[in-house]
Amino acid sequence: MAKKNLTLHGNTTPLTKALATANKPATREVLPAGKFGRMFPDLPANNLPDQVLIDLGNSMRDNDPVASDSPIPAGYTYLGQFIDHDLSFTKEGGIVGGVTSPTQLRSPELELDSLYGKGPNNAESKGMYEGPPTAARFKIGLSTPTGDVGPNPLPNDHLRNPDKSSFIPDPRNDENLLVAQTHLLFMKFHNKVLDALPTLSAEHDVARPGESPFKRAQRIVTWHYQWIVWNDFVRRLIRPGVFASIENNGPMFYKVLSGQRPFMPVEFSVAAYRLGHSMVRDSYSHNRVFFDTSLDLLFTFTGNGGMFGSPTLPSNWIIDWRRFYNLGVSGVPLNFTRKIDTKIANSLFTLAGMPTSDAGNPDLAKLSVRNLLRGKIQKLPSGQQIANFMGAVILQPDEINSGIPAVDADTPLWYYILREAAVLGNGGNNLGPVGSRLVGEVFMGLLQNDPGSYLRKRPTWRPFLGSTFGMFEMADLVKFVNDINPIG
Ligand code: HEM
Repeated sequence: MAKKNLTLHGNTTPLTKALATANKPATREVLPAGKFGRMFPDLPANNLPDQVLIDLGNSMRDNDPVASDSPIPAGYTYLGQFIDHDLSFTKEGGIVGGVTSPTQLRSPELELDSLYGKGPNNAESKGMYEGPPTAARFKIGLSTPTGDVGPNPLPNDHLRNPDKSSFIPDPRNDENLLVAQTHLLFMKFHNKVLDALPTLSAEHDVARPGESPFKRAQRIVTWHYQWIVWNDFVRRLIRPGVFASIENNGPMFYKVLSGQRPFMPVEFSVAAYRLGHSMVRDSYSHNRVFFDTSLDLLFTFTGNGGMFGSPTLPSNWIIDWRRFYNLGVSGVPLNFTRKIDTKIANSLFTLAGMPTSDAGNPDLAKLSVRNLLRGKIQKLPSGQQIANFMGAVILQPDEINSGIPAVDADTPLWYYILREAAVLGNGGNNLGPVGSRLVGEVFMGLLQNDPGSYLRKRPTWRPFLGSTFGMFEMADLVKFVNDINPIG
């Protein structure tokens, strides 16, 4: 197929109405809805029968707990999930009765609405904060002491309601302990930056006249986070050539109409960016006490998981960050993400808390099946269609090799991207050509079209909180927060 006029592609078909689902049902709409849209509105939908998608989803179960490692430290999986929760939240609803035009509850911008909510002056959000609104800090919750750590509670949990739910803007950030601790890390990052404001160099900080300490800290946090998203996280995920091409020439396929804010492409939220589901491991070395723990337990030690009766996180479940990011410490095991491929960790086949319309069908508790059916509901094109449109290498049926001929010929986009990573992405260490373009372009497009991003406001801005000016990765953020291994 010939390439189409690219200027026609962009937010030409915003999807604004009706329901679909989300990781966990949202109890309240806390933030203004953004928009879903399409990057490839003219490509035909991949329309494989539901049963084929269910069979394919079932074939993705990885029963091997010792999954093969990528070189990416495992903290990036949950940073990836945290980033997703900043960008995309499909309003509550089931696969059963799912619609093509769901409502998006997040602004698709990297502005950390999932962390800051509507800010300390807002009635819905102010309970998360303490101190005057102009210098507001996040309230941090206390852990419940355990004998193996010590008698004093530690400031290492979310602030929790009596029912243990966390008072944060996006309940999904308390869905498993690793994303919950990542959210906590960012709350602490804000508080640390606020404390450090008097010592920060005005030359580097670009403070605005009349800006309150809260706003200044929020901007410094958000811009450092945006730097990490592109220069640390995306750089690790996509092909170096595609990274450089997008950085130098901008996106070719993710186009936002002039003057509009970014939209969230369904090709990204329903397929490409769900690549993270393949990075999840079934077990982790969490800290000195739980050095070989199952993912199932990491679901248990959250508000919804009940924490085995503990009112807040037991102290012995506080994360040891040295095991999740490379902090240059020897003698401590570092967890890595699973390779990006078509195998999905066993624990993701028995999800709890599905929408009521889906309860009773065990196939709909399998994340792989949900992703594939969701892609069909959203009428996503196949991977081959998009590869062809992009002029990229197209995987042949024997390379897809799913064991289902109909799938090999016309592959659901999510599965295609995972398979492409395994075949053309350095053995699953990073994405292949189509996945790299899709993921890289959307992140760059979000940064370029967000009126508040550092790339729009001050493209020459560089991070200044790390040990080297102009460089900042997750390991630098963890070191800056300086609460690396609270239980010793
Ligand atoms: C243990 C870890 C994770 C669990 C249990 C989980 C679970 C889920 C569930 C249940 C959904 C909704 C499925 C549906 O009904 O369509 C979902 C959606 C999604 N997930 Fe994950 N996920 C995890 C990690 C990740 C990671 C690491 C990433 C990316 C790096 C990711 C990206 C996404 C995206 C983009 C969506 C769609 C969000 C929306 O628009 O509502 N997830 N996830």
